[in-house]
Amino acid sequence: MEAISAINLSKSFKGKYAVHGLNMHVPEGAIYGFIGENGAGKSTTQKMICGLLLPTKGEITLFGKPADDAEVRSHMGVLIENPGVYMGWTARENLLLQAMNIGVENPKKTVDEALEAVGLGDTGKKKVREFSLGMKQRLGIAAAFLGNPNILVLDEPINGLDPEGIREIRQTLLRLNQEYHLTILISSHILGELSKIATHYGIIKKGSMTKEISAEDLSRECRDYMRIKVLHPEKVLPYLKQHIQMDGSEIVDGEIHLLNAKDGAAVNQCMFQNGDIASEISFHQLDLEEYFMSLMGGGNNA
Ligand SMILES: Nc1ncnc2c1ncn2[C@@H]1O[C@H](COP(=O)(O)OP(=O)(O)OP(=O)(O)O)[C@@H](O)[C@H]1O
Ligand SMILES: [Mg+2]
Repeated sequence: MEAISAINLSKSFKGKYAVHGLNMHVPEGAIYGFIGENGAGKSTTQKMICGLLLPTKGEITLFGKPADDAEVRSHMGVLIENPGVYMGWTARENLLLQAMNIGVENPKKTVDEALEAVGLGDTGKKKVREFSLGMKQRLGIAAAFLGNPNILVLDEPINGLDPEGIREIRQTLLRLNQEYHLTILISSHILGELSKIATHYGIIKKGSMTKEISAEDLSRECRDYMRIKVLHPEKVLPYLKQHIQMDGSEIVDGEIHLLNAKDGAAVNQCMFQNGDIASEISFHQLDLEEYFMSLMGGGNNA
C-alpha cells in the first residue's frame, strides 16, 4: 500500500509552473527523502499533499483514498512553516495548548508521549527561547505528532542545524518510524543529511520528479565493482572467485561484476592462464553525492 501517491501533480502561480506533472510514490512505512535544489518545488508539492495548497492539476491519494477525505487527512502531521510557538513558554505548555486546540483526547498523556518521542521529555521548566534550533525543530515535530498521525510531512527540518542537531533529528525520526510505524516524507536540498535514514528517495528537478529509488537499489547502483566483458562469463566467474580478492560477484547482462575488486592485472593474468580473454575490463564507481547532483542539477533553476 502506498501511503502517499501523487499522479501528474501540477501547480502554477500566475501561469508559471512551480510543480509540473510530478509523480510520487511513498510506500507505507517509508522514510522518504524528497530532495531537490532551492526552488525545485519541494515545499509546493508538500503543501499540496497536506492540503495547504490546491493543485492546479493532478491527483493525490493517501492510503489509497483521495487526499481531501477528512478522515485520512486527520491522520497527517505536518511541519512546513515555522510552527506558532510561544517562546516564553515551556515545551510542555506549548504542546498542551496545541493539543487542546486540535481536541486531542487525554491531552496530558498525549503531550508527555510526544515529548518523550522527540527526546524533549526532560526539558522541564526550560523556556523555548532557551532551546537550541534542533530542540525547536523537535518541538515542531512533537506538535505534528500530537494528533496520532500515520503520516508525517516535514519540510527541511534539518536546515541550518549543526551535526549534533542533525543527529538528534535523525534519531527522533527513526524512532517515530520504527516505534509508531509512521510514514515520513522529509524534504532537503542536501542529500547527505538524509542518506543515513531514508529508505526511499525522490529527486525533484524544476517541478518534476526525475527519479524515485529505494535506498537498497541506490546502494546497489552506487557500489564499486570491476566490470569484465567476456564471451562466457559463467565459465570464467568460478575461477575468478577462487583467485581474485573481492567482496562478492554477480553476472549482470552478460557482464561479470566483482564487488570491490581492484586488481585488474591479476584478473587479466588469471583469465589468460585459463585460456580466456576479456574484451573489456573497467571500473564502476559512483559517488552517492555525485549521483544525486547529476539528477538534481543541470544548471539554472526554474
Ligand atoms: N505563493 C507563490 N507564488 C508565486 N510563486 C511561488 C509561490 N510559492 C512558490 N513559488 C515558486 O515556485 C517555485 C518552487 O518553489 P518551492 O518553494 O516549492 O521550492 P523548494 O524546492 O521548496 O525550494 P527551497 O529549497 O528554496 O525551499 C519557485 O520558483 C518559487 O519561487
Ligand atoms: Mg522549500
